[in-house]
Amino acid sequence: MKIVPSILAADYWRLGEQVAEAERGGAQRFHIDVMDGSFVPNFSLGLPIVEAMRRGTTLPLEVHLMIDRPERYTEAFIKAGGDLLILHQEATPQLHRALDQVQALGKAVGVGLNPGTPLGTIEDVVEELDLLLLMTVNPGFGGQKFITSVLSKLQRARALLRERAPACELEVDGGIDETTGPLALAAGADVLVAGTCIFAHAGGPAAGVRALREACARGVSAAL
Ligand code: DX5
Ligand code: ZN
Repeated sequence: MKIVPSILAADYWRLGEQVAEAERGGAQRFHIDVMDGSFVPNFSLGLPIVEAMRRGTTLPLEVHLMIDRPERYTEAFIKAGGDLLILHQEATPQLHRALDQVQALGKAVGVGLNPGTPLGTIEDVVEELDLLLLMTVNPGFGGQKFITSVLSKLQRARALLRERAPACELEVDGGIDETTGPLALAAGADVLVAGTCIFAHAGGPAAGVRALREACARGVSAAL
């Protein structure tokens, strides 16, 4: 199980400090949310933040591209320092080509699915994937409520990956906290993205990562 802090919820005035704290708490990589005001109704981070993060941490960086036609920018985000690019199935009519482009540049690639997008839409590219991201909120904002109905999609995704792409990671993003994280893991996820519950934790980001990890260890053993 991996915990991946989403810096969307960080205090940007103290970004370096917050990232170092999350790293001290046991973060395994960082998640950077890129929004274009079109694919999602919000704007967020972009290339300069990826470049700054690349200078500030040695952990891998995953870039969550919530933008239309992500293939236009994959190379730029790789040059900026992204190690794993996540593209949305809904954002391009050329998904297979877009995945190929990232892999041709020697980087890992994932596909994201919104809560309302059927799992079947990625069935024909699943062997190409390093990661499958199931959104557990509608993308665009941090701090939203976990959508419980995604749990059954997670179970089906785990079954699909077991059969067709056993090395592919299964990630969830949105509304993950000490209650929902264990539920997502029990349903088959192995990577948790979390923003608010880490960066808004009363004890700071290191305590936030540790608390989530401990809750998941308890929750998963309780589910067994
Ligand atoms: C939502 C973003 C998430 C967001 C999660 O569109 O993709 O990565 O940061 O934030 P929380 O954990 O607060 O739901
Ligand atoms: Zn995200």
